[in-house]
Amino acid sequence: MSSIAGSSVASSDGARIEVSSGSPLSGRIDVPGAKNSVLKLMAASLLGDGSCTITNAPAIIDVTIMADLLQALGAEVHIESGSITITAAQVHCVEPPADLVERMRASVNLLGPLLTRYGRVRLALPGGDDFGARPIDMHIAGLEAMGARVTLGERHLEATSAGLHGADIAFDFPSVGATENIVTAAVLATGMTVIDGAAREPEVVDLCRFLVGMGAEIEGIGGPRLTVRGTSGRPLGSVEHRVVPDRIQAATYIAAVAVSGGRLEIVDARPDDMEMFLRRCAEMGLEIEEWSDGRSDGIVVAREGRIRAVDVQTLPYPGIATDYKPLVITMLSVANGSAVVTENLYPGRFRYIDELTRLGADIRTEGHHALVRGVPNLRGCPVRAHDIRAGAAMVVAGLAAQGTTTITGVEHIDRGYDDLVGRLRSVGAHITRLGEAGSAL
Ligand code: EPU
Repeated sequence: MSSIAGSSVASSDGARIEVSSGSPLSGRIDVPGAKNSVLKLMAASLLGDGSCTITNAPAIIDVTIMADLLQALGAEVHIESGSITITAAQVHCVEPPADLVERMRASVNLLGPLLTRYGRVRLALPGGDDFGARPIDMHIAGLEAMGARVTLGERHLEATSAGLHGADIAFDFPSVGATENIVTAAVLATGMTVIDGAAREPEVVDLCRFLVGMGAEIEGIGGPRLTVRGTSGRPLGSVEHRVVPDRIQAATYIAAVAVSGGRLEIVDARPDDMEMFLRRCAEMGLEIEEWSDGRSDGIVVAREGRIRAVDVQTLPYPGIATDYKPLVITMLSVANGSAVVTENLYPGRFRYIDELTRLGADIRTEGHHALVRGVPNLRGCPVRAHDIRAGAAMVVAGLAAQGTTTITGVEHIDRGYDDLVGRLRSVGAHITRLGEAGSAL
């Protein structure tokens, strides 16, 4: 539980979600800010002397964990109604508490800011989702190229530097986290850092824009080559920044329409950030259009009849993100025809398939491929969410299942989804959250 005032994240101890298929969905859902951006913006606030205000922040558990981490380091953090204000002028500790670090992958984003600003960091090896090895060799190699000395222990790493310098860094693979750590380290380094093969995800772009708002000099934002001119140790300033909307949450509501039918206006969904995914959805037979009512915009998604099977493979942005895959496989489970889904990022990210099979899906995996043969309906039964995206997929599967699907492991969903149940209920889904042990913060 976080000690942050004003946050409204419910405890998920003992919680479960019950969901069943029902009438087509209809109405409007707004998309909160992206988990995979807000956590990085919070960590990057350590680079400034002023106060950083982050708006459109989702009410999710990972935000409270990052807030607790920053407070443990000495930063002031205030969260209220979707707005987070962080002041990092009084940081006195560069050893983030291991018990918090181990709870999520995004803690690794403390590495670049702490090292570049304070010259030392000792970090437990970060946790996160359980879908195979997630090494950080590229983060380490990039920081070493900038002059850091890094010692890797079994359970933690320690990095020191007498002042990082700019470097030319080329990534073989566009790692999101490594790009973010090198950019945040480079903004206070001495001289110019060039990153070739940088990740281009909308959340990486959001971080770069946040840093520019704080006064950093970054060129090439959104492209594969980022050039950063460092301040030679001078901290950055204040910023007010709105978090980019969460494309994976937007996709979750699209998947809900794909299996339930109906029509949803998805407010704040950014079609440009999800182009390849939307293209595949259109090939499956979903009607998707850009939408605006003059005050807000987003997309409208509608479906009549059963969707069609279409092959999909995951790739770094602008390809189809691996985080969409559990949703895609769930959609294909009830599509007309068979499709192959290929995972190119995390070979182990297929664990939820056993749960889908339990619900009556016909899926066979071989290596990093899954062959999904669509069935007309799934059948409700108890299932478990093993990670955030798999949890969302279980909810969508429940919407496609006759009878009741009971989902446990809700704490995973709460790490990344801001009131998934409430949002789906508001558009007519038959879904309830039960068995809460704690109260809202
Ligand atoms: N990789 C390495 N060495 C490194 C870094 C990455 O081998 O030093 C490999 C990884 O093992 C993996 C691939 O590169 O096979 C992708 O890793 P990347 O660094 O791009 O991912 P990440 O930064 O660890 C973020 C998101 C993930 C999302 C991926 C890919 C956060 C906190 N996590 O992870 O999101 O799947 O990018 O887009 O931003 C989620 O939100 O559910 C989630 C898992």
